[in-house]
Amino acid sequence: MSTSSLELEAFDRSGYAGYDTQLAADPDEELTRIGPGTPAGEYLRRYWHPVALGRELGERPVATRILGEDLVLFRDRGGRVGLVHRRCPHRRASLEFGTCEERGIRCCYHGWHFDVDGALLDAPGQPPEAKARLEARVRLGAYPAFEYQGLVFAYLGPMREMPRFPVYDAFELPDMERVPYKAPFRCNWLQVLDAIVDPIHTSFLHSNISRVQFSVGFGEVGQMDYFERGMWFAGTNTRRVGDNVWFRANELVLPNFTQAGAAFAADGTKQRYYGRSAFTRWVVPLDDEDTMCYAWANFGERGDPPEYNTPEGPELIEQGEIFDRPYEERQRFPADAEATEGMGRITVHANEHLAPSDKGVALMRRRLREEIRRVAAGASPMHATETQSSPLPTYGGDTVLTMPRVGNGDESALLSRLAHRLMEIQYAADRLEEPERVALVSREMRELEKRGLGALAED
Ligand code: FES
Ligand SMILES: [Fe+2]
Repeated sequence: MSTSSLELEAFDRSGYAGYDTQLAADPDEELTRIGPGTPAGEYLRRYWHPVALGRELGERPVATRILGEDLVLFRDRGGRVGLVHRRCPHRRASLEFGTCEERGIRCCYHGWHFDVDGALLDAPGQPPEAKARLEARVRLGAYPAFEYQGLVFAYLGPMREMPRFPVYDAFELPDMERVPYKAPFRCNWLQVLDAIVDPIHTSFLHSNISRVQFSVGFGEVGQMDYFERGMWFAGTNTRRVGDNVWFRANELVLPNFTQAGAAFAADGTKQRYYGRSAFTRWVVPLDDEDTMCYAWANFGERGDPPEYNTPEGPELIEQGEIFDRPYEERQRFPADAEATEGMGRITVHANEHLAPSDKGVALMRRRLREEIRRVAAGASPMHATETQSSPLPTYGGDTVLTMPRVGNGDESALLSRLAHRLMEIQYAADRLEEPERVALVSREMRELEKRGLGALAED
């Protein structure tokens, strides 16, 4: 074939915008940079975050990075958890090579011994006066940390601002087994966080594009609604499944606490009243380009079925696939890691085109920015424990009601009304303790079901 026979007219000159499409280079610094002294870093340093699984703390210290800081985490032989700056204040040897003592940690280089709060307990080989002077003057940087239900939580902010530890209702549901797990993402924390307020991605990434990664019913988008209430955000899908309506809420409590409905327990075919989240999870920045989700997978009647409580179960619940997979399999069956890491280590928001289905993402980023600026201006950010009583209510989960279709038209407005009613029913029970909350919410849901969709049309 000669060059003259190539039909270049086929290439429409008004299309093909590769050369002319300008891409911005800079990420949104205010939301994405989380190191010490950055606006988002300061904001995140006003909250407790999980930083490890309890079972990772054995007899040796663990080198880690949290919020862009090089740290060492350990459990002393007395059972207390320490989270300290990685380098010894004497001459900067790494404490990851130190030893866990009955009380605190000892540096490998010259044996200086520090308590979990960073106090210098001993500096061997120094004359007594020098030793006393050193003990008064030298402190290893340390952060408060403790283990709770198999997760290690820490606070990396100013001590005068240390908030109460927020206990959400999901931490203590009696009929659930909580299994701690972690999920690494090689990208900025916000890319991981965005997905929780993006209910439409489940229907594509996890169903129509990849293989069916959760239950079959996710393939249909359904009616989507978005809720914002103080620090609480929810994105809901309300789907028609035969005579049933399946309502699912994914939620975020600022800055990084997330819950979703069940991954495998709900597909809309079986009635379910006030089902709870498959995972209770935090999206924790390790640094600007690496993120770790720390979580409990929730198994039981109102979570995911106990048969998924296997070594891979939490990975499947987290993203529909196991984490470590060959490249070809990741291409054929992409999951959250492929979608979020594929954007690059820090995606550039200026190159996005947000659509109506991104409403949750837009709302969340706006509020996040407001809170970050509030802290930058010297104020304290909002804390869940100040706006609600403990245990703090959460809303992530699934409810399936038998509510046959009324009429033949488009029912999306009715499904949206139903979604709002279901959220209001839960909001109204906020102040109650379990099990009163469960009793009231389930009763109201059943009543709504009995009255049928038609009644919502008349409201
Ligand atoms: S560097 Fe740690 S004791 Fe000397
Ligand atoms: Fe996902």
